[in-house]
Amino acid sequence: MSLSFEGRVVLVTGAGGGLGKEYALAFAERGASVVVNDLGADTKGGGKSSAAADKVVEEIRAKGGKAVANYDSVEDGEKLIQSALDAFGRIDIVVNNAGILRDRSFARTSDLDWDLIHRVHLRGSFLVTRAAWNHMKNQKFGRIIMTTSAAGIYGNFGQANYSAAKLGMLGLANTLAVEGRKYNIHTNTIAPVAGSRLTETVMPPDLVESLKPEYVAPMVLWLCHEQCQENGGLFEVGAGWIGKLRWERSQGSIVRQKNQPTSPEAVRDQWDKICDFTDATKPSSVQESLQSIVSVLSRVDSEEKVSGSPTAAAAAAASSASGINPTEAVGQKLPPTTFNFTHTQCILYALGVGMSTKDPDHLRFLYEGHSDFSCLPTFGVIPSQAAMMDGGLGSIPGLNIDFTQVLHGEQYLELYKPLPTSGKLTSEATIADVLDKGSGAVILLDVNTYDGKELICYNQFSVFVVGAGGFGGKRSSEKAKAPVPPPKRAPDAVVIDSTTRDQAALYRLSGDWNPLHIDPSFAAMGGFKSPILHGLCSFGFAARHVLKQYADNDPSRFKAIKVRFVKPVMPGQSLQTEMWKEGNRIHIQCKVKETDAVVLSGAYVDLHGASEASPENLTQGGGLQSQLVFAEIGRRIKDLGAELVKKVNAVFGWEITKDGKNAAQWTIDLKNGSGALHEGPFSGKVDVTFTVSDEDFMEVVQGKLNPQKAFFSGKLKVRGNIMLSQKLEVILKDYAKL
Ligand code: NAI
Repeated sequence: MSLSFEGRVVLVTGAGGGLGKEYALAFAERGASVVVNDLGADTKGGGKSSAAADKVVEEIRAKGGKAVANYDSVEDGEKLIQSALDAFGRIDIVVNNAGILRDRSFARTSDLDWDLIHRVHLRGSFLVTRAAWNHMKNQKFGRIIMTTSAAGIYGNFGQANYSAAKLGMLGLANTLAVEGRKYNIHTNTIAPVAGSRLTETVMPPDLVESLKPEYVAPMVLWLCHEQCQENGGLFEVGAGWIGKLRWERSQGSIVRQKNQPTSPEAVRDQWDKICDFTDATKPSSVQESLQSIVSVLSRVDSEEKVSGSPTAAAAAAASSASGINPTEAVGQKLPPTTFNFTHTQCILYALGVGMSTKDPDHLRFLYEGHSDFSCLPTFGVIPSQAAMMDGGLGSIPGLNIDFTQVLHGEQYLELYKPLPTSGKLTSEATIADVLDKGSGAVILLDVNTYDGKELICYNQFSVFVVGAGGFGGKRSSEKAKAPVPPPKRAPDAVVIDSTTRDQAALYRLSGDWNPLHIDPSFAAMGGFKSPILHGLCSFGFAARHVLKQYADNDPSRFKAIKVRFVKPVMPGQSLQTEMWKEGNRIHIQCKVKETDAVVLSGAYVDLHGASEASPENLTQGGGLQSQLVFAEIGRRIKDLGAELVKKVNAVFGWEITKDGKNAAQWTIDLKNGSGALHEGPFSGKVDVTFTVSDEDFMEVVQGKLNPQKAFFSGKLKVRGNIMLSQKLEVILKDYAKL
């Protein structure tokens, strides 16, 4: 359906020429009634004429459109809006576009140069928009455009006055977006680039000619349409291209210690870290920005007094602020827990993960009198989670963390035999590793669960502690059970299953009592509209989908499951489990059907049974030619790692395929420490990933196939920062010659 503006009344300021004229014509062409405002001034704001606006109105009317002219300055904001009300009875859309320039180097900028620019751009936009605001509020619809400029965003020589006013408009838009949201008034800001009389003094003539204002107009129309829900956005637009901008904030560093004066030396000593954009965050509201700053207060407050030299103290402050000391924590054991259960818990769990008597196959998990009565394999997380639930982590030395900031990031479960349906199980939990992800810390908790002396299952909980990173720890761990992305083809099977409104209320009875899943006010504190479903509940859904699809609901076929929790599910939403069979490994991805949001990613279930290659072999790269090259690269990294890290500073992932199937995975880490080569899944951040067949990889390495050609012919696929491939070519050329 094409976007219509029938019935809408639009005011475009400064619409006598340039960009404004194009907007006015485009709105009118799609049925809007347009007020064409223009003072008819020269580019510096001098003079006045009605001719400019009149011509545009004539052009619109000649094409059968609706328009009236207005010749007031935007400084008479009320009058412009009055024109719209007089002519068309309402005002729906305001495009603040009028503008002039008075460029001078800063030292030569006069009061008048400064004031005029501010009066037209910033104050003019304020006055016009304020005059329209209550009308928009009452009718619960409004769309406002502010026109900023690259000069404001980035700074530009000779445009101090203009830059300041233009970025002032962005600030104005940011707040209007917040205040207008609940009235369906959306405000967005554009930084256009187009040839016009304003740019003809700074751009070469052929550029002025080619960068047509009409390339910008479609963006303005879209942002002003009722279908567009964007609010508070900032966009650069020109030449038919549109990009969005946002703020980025480094992880930063705490430069203050409890009960001690803050010193400029501490700032100096932390400078690199303050300015390091690795793992930068993207705060998008004052609340988000403030929250993290305020949390520093308690982090510093809970700190022990640190003595020593200022530099040592600063480093200690940085590490103790997050309260994590991996050397102390890793290897620590939590107090063992015991779990007594009967068939009741097994059945309650099965109901909790959505099993129903509607499906006759489910009866074996729901009725203790069934001849094959069994416990669902994923019940294996229940006895082991007690270690976490009882707050055991809090007792570990070196893990001084804020428990309100803990998220369940990933889960791995492996069964060594089918679970019993009653009995007494004991679990022993160990801190397997602690990783520093910058924005947070990841705690890997390994839990072994025993039936008497017999080990029956192993769980790895991967717990993310928001804000606890930056303690100088390693980023990845060979102990981590890594998620594995699914193959790139369409899924082999899809199961859709609805959760009920009470799914979380039911699931929690299996032992996860976190109020986040039942108490609306608690959920609100966590930033959720309503209580969310347990991640491990969706995990249970997905696992039983696989069990039914590929293992005939036979729990003894179930070997292991891994998932990464990506987004919350709301009770009542439907889960869509997509499955890909690769030998005994069933890759899975779970989405919320209603929103298409991925909720479980990098997930898989390993089954016992069929005779194909075991999952291990799939990732080990056995029998591949490329393995020799990687072995050589590995040796070079050992010798020259540190030097390469300095030169390259990137992490490259390789997915080697054989006969169209994933056959091996390698990661060349030339960013962390003194570099390393990893085989198999990698848990850290990879900058760029290449997928290529074993044969084509060899051709590239031997110089028989040009990598660029391989890329364009689809033989070499690249994900991530493609620019880094240039650096890779250097390594392959210099270091992998066999
Ligand atoms: P333009 O000079 O063709 O259009 C501006 C219009 O505003 C003129 O018709 C002028 O008569 C009118 N105007 C000036 N003062 C006024 C006032 N007090 N009341 C009512 N109308 C007034 O220039 P262009 O390039 O179309 O610029 C449109 C907007 O886009 C301006 O706000 C400009 O700062 C902004 N912009 C343009 C860029 C470009 O590459 N063309 C780059 C960045 C920003």
